[in-house]
Order: sequence, then structure tokens, then C-alpha cells
Amino acid sequence: MRTIDWVDGAVVIIDQTALPHRITQLTLSTVDQVVGAIQSLAVRGAPAIGVAGGLGVALAVHTHADDPAGLAAAVDRLRTARPTAVNLARGVDRVAARIPAGADAVLAEAVAVMDEERAASAAMANLGADLLTRVCPPRPRLLTHCNTGALATVVGGTALGVVAELHRRGALGAVIASETRPLLQGARLTAWELDRLGVGFRVAVDGAGPFLMARGQVDAVIVGADRICANGDTINKIGTYAHALGARRAGIPFVVVAPESTVDSTTASGTDVEIEDRGDAEVVAFAGTPTTPPGAAAVNPAFDVTPADLVTAIVTDRRVVRLDRGERP
Ligand code: MRU
Repeated sequence: MRTIDWVDGAVVIIDQTALPHRITQLTLSTVDQVVGAIQSLAVRGAPAIGVAGGLGVALAVHTHADDPAGLAAAVDRLRTARPTAVNLARGVDRVAARIPAGADAVLAEAVAVMDEERAASAAMANLGADLLTRVCPPRPRLLTHCNTGALATVVGGTALGVVAELHRRGALGAVIASETRPLLQGARLTAWELDRLGVGFRVAVDGAGPFLMARGQVDAVIVGADRICANGDTINKIGTYAHALGARRAGIPFVVVAPESTVDSTTASGTDVEIEDRGDAEVVAFAGTPTTPPGAAAVNPAFDVTPADLVTAIVTDRRVVRLDRGERP
């Protein structure tokens, strides 16, 4: 399954807002459509939006062939479609740097970003599975948050790629997917992917995680990241920090899996990162049905910061950084 691809001059994605009920593809042939898909989470997950942004630049170059100002504005709209995951700005900047070399060079760079993310998933899966085998009891029972599988990357995944690799090795005990309020990336997407992979799983409400850990039902927490700062602070889906606190209290490893394209050594710490606020609507209603009294206000940070001191290790496609041993990314 490819979450995102370039087909006949357009970006083709699996529409993640329709899952798990319908598997549909969207063909995006304008920059506005790519920006809309990123903002609506039709395409989501840090590596996937980096790839989408890069392919969006290839579209922009065609649309604005003789319009440098229009092209610059389109690139900027792609770059800022969502603020938190570093992969988006990085993917857009990398591809846009090839604009002077012409449209073919731009497309080649965008495809290279996509291919590199694909290769990164395979490398992380192996390194992460090796690490968990070392730091956990045999056949570990894992808890994961949000969706970090093929849907969030191109194929494979980050944290969920490690889960899948342990399953392939016959070395996985159990998986709990936390549902991930308010948009249910865990319940809708991770559960869908695990089902397709033939991995047994259970879904838990987000608040259950720390208690399940305290009760000895989880051997390690494994999550992805949207940005990893120079000091090791890790930004990931809202709810991650609570799981990290639970893991520390329970004395179990908390492992972050992300490609090098998510490591942002130019940002010193988590306090320097803009956390996307997605507004009231996602919290006060679900699938169009109100869940609060009329007029209720909400606060809706899409991500949180897990301080480096709660992270046992970061696994990238090239290395394992043991934060618990004082190493830094
Ligand atoms: O708002 P989302 O669904 O794009 O958030 C995604 C996450 O937080 C993922 O955990 C993160 O991007 C890592 S995915 C490989």
C-alpha cells in the first residue's frame, strides 16, 4: 500500500478522513488541493506531509511556469499548511531549492524525498525491533499512540513499522492502540493497519494508558514524532506526554521512532516549537454530532512536548540515540 504517489502529473493519496469505513483515493492536481488535503488530514503524519509538500512544489512549478511571484506564494502556502511537523517545511524547502534547475529537476527531487522516506521506514523497523528485543522482556506487550504506520509515511511506518517487524519475527506479545482523541487516528487508522497486517490488537481510550502501564500490562511505549529538538525534546500527537509520564512511573521504556527528516537540530528545545491549535470544532462535536452543550468552548492543541528526560531512546533510520545514557540527537 502506498499512502501517497505521483501518478500522471498529479498527487494521489489515500483519503485518511474516510478510513476505516471507505478506502478511497483522492487525485490532487492543484496546490490548493494539496494544501487542503494536508489541513483536513486527508494526508497526515510527519513523513507523509513532507512528501506531499514536496510533490505539491512539483505541481506549483507547472501551474506557475511564467509567474515567479505566484510560484513563491504557492510554495509558501505549502510550507505553512501545518506548523508543527518539521518534515513539511523541510520537504518543501528541499524541493523548492531545485526550482532554478527546472521542472524535471524539481519532480526528481520530490520523488527522491518520497523514495528516501520509503527506505527510512525499512531501516527504522529493523533498528527499532532490535532495540526492543534488547530492552524488553521476550515477546513484549507494546502500547502505541496515534498512527505511525504506512498511512503516516509512504509505506511501512515508524513506530508501527517496528511493531510490524516484531510481528514478522514472531517476537511480539500484544499491542494496545490508544484511540487518540479527538480525531481517532489510533482507533480508525492504526487499528485498520494492524488488522490488515494480521496483528492482534486492542484499542484503549487515551486516559487508560498510564493505568494499564501501572497495572503491569505494558512492557514498553513506542511512538513516532513530528519534530525532535536538539536537546531530545520530542513533539508528537497530543496525549503522548501523558503516556511518557505513565511509562516513567511504571519503570518501562518509552521509545520514539522517527526518520532523520524529523530530527530538527536547529530548534533547541520543545518550547521553541509552534504547536498547532486546531480550534474548537473537533472537540465539541464528533462526526457532526455535538458532544458538549451548545456554545461550549474548547482548547485543542494537536501535539504536545515530551521532555527529553522521559525518553529512553530515539530510533532513526541511521542510529539509536540512548537518551537514558545521556546521548543527544
Ligand atoms: O495530526 P497528525 O495525525 O498528522 O499527527 C501525526 C502524529 O502525531 C504522528 O504520531 C507523527 O506524525 C509520527 S508519524 C510517523
